Amino acid sequence: MRLFSIVGTRPEFIQSSTVHHAAKDFDGVSHHYIHTGQHYDDEMSLTFWEQLDLGMPDCELNVGSHSQNVQTGLILNKLGAVFADAQLAPDDWIIVYGDTNSVLAGALAAAKCPAGLVHLEAGMRSYDWKMPEEVNRVATDHLCDLALAPCSSAASTLLAEGLPEHRIGVIGDTIQAAYERYAAPAVASTIWIKQKISPYDYILVTIHRQENTDDQERLRRIASALRILQGRGHKLIMPLHPRVNRDFFEGLSVIDPVNYFDMLALEVGAKLIITDSGGVQREAYYSRVPCVILRDVTEWRELLNTGWQELVSPLHNTAIEIANICEGGIETKGDDVDVYEALDGADLIRILALGDGKWLHNIQEGSME
Ligand code: UD1
Ligand code: UDP
Repeated sequence: MRLFSIVGTRPEFIQSSTVHHAAKDFDGVSHHYIHTGQHYDDEMSLTFWEQLDLGMPDCELNVGSHSQNVQTGLILNKLGAVFADAQLAPDDWIIVYGDTNSVLAGALAAAKCPAGLVHLEAGMRSYDWKMPEEVNRVATDHLCDLALAPCSSAASTLLAEGLPEHRIGVIGDTIQAAYERYAAPAVASTIWIKQKISPYDYILVTIHRQENTDDQERLRRIASALRILQGRGHKLIMPLHPRVNRDFFEGLSVIDPVNYFDMLALEVGAKLIITDSGGVQREAYYSRVPCVILRDVTEWRELLNTGWQELVSPLHNTAIEIANICEGGIETKGDDVDVYEALDGADLIRILALGDGKWLHNIQEGSME
């Protein structure tokens, strides 16, 4: 059986790592990477391939940055030729992770080829159609042969949207699986020394979502809130995604994006995490660090019930309100429960090896002992 992971962005390299390493333990299973090139700077791509030991991509599409439609179209166009070359067969599987343009293009191309398509992180919803990610994930869920959700509420969403039961499963969280594998080695990171910060004495901040970065008012409010926090004596550290206009954050501790181990170390040692990232939001909980999510909505809403996280809209709150909520959150300690489970890569591969979801169905029926 051949597995083809289509990946293009920083989180997808991380999300796919569990499948890549699990595949090595199966005779007769080979895992191949197709890198779309949506992310291409070394610090957004190569560093993850090296650190997570993903090998080299079997195929690189090198699409780069474009408008949403051009980027999706370019990937789709190039994948057609790659799939034809690979002579895909019905027992091959294409795997896509999450909700990026690389995911949607991969799903569209896969839907028209003989191989099966499996979507990990299926069923997550913001119900905000202005987000490109919402369009990508909903379309992908409805195109795929197997929609594997990280939690039962996401599986229920898929059922309610009319996906047949035999195409839906709960397989756990890809980010949690990577976190469990890499959080321990990551503490050897020297990022604290390099950045001259002490563990538990700083606030970690990441901002990258289009709805924040492309809206000047939201960005201004976020930057003002961070300045207020800094003015009150809080040390900030802010690895910034390349899409963000750094002029807004002048005077704040902006650094270039960091590698995954450094990021995990920064998360574990933070007294508070402020983010609009879905991956960082989950890692904050896995690290049991309080987290303020600077968004109007989160797909990972179960985390809001743990008491560790607060959703704060930069649209509906002033800078001072945002700063006050963040400061209040620092001492917050919530529940200590397992909200999601980690993706088990071996389970996934066994499900795919049986083909059309029969194994999945049997697991759900409790008859697969
Ligand atoms: C994409 C995903 C988003 C995901 C994020 C992870 C879509 C629609 N969005 O957003 O869901 O959370 O990745 O980080 O797929 N850039 C560089 N160097 C790079 C990559 C990007 O400078 O290596 C800059 C370019 O100016 C580019 C901009 O970042 O135009 C946006 O990149 P893009 O991949 O289009 O979207 P992301 O914001 O990264
Ligand atoms: N990440 C990283 N370095 C950084 C910022 C993020 O390694 O400078 C990792 C982070 O630990 C998480 C993933 O990238 O695993 C999240 O990616 P991102 O925030 O870009 O996207 P999202 O998860 O929102 O799709």
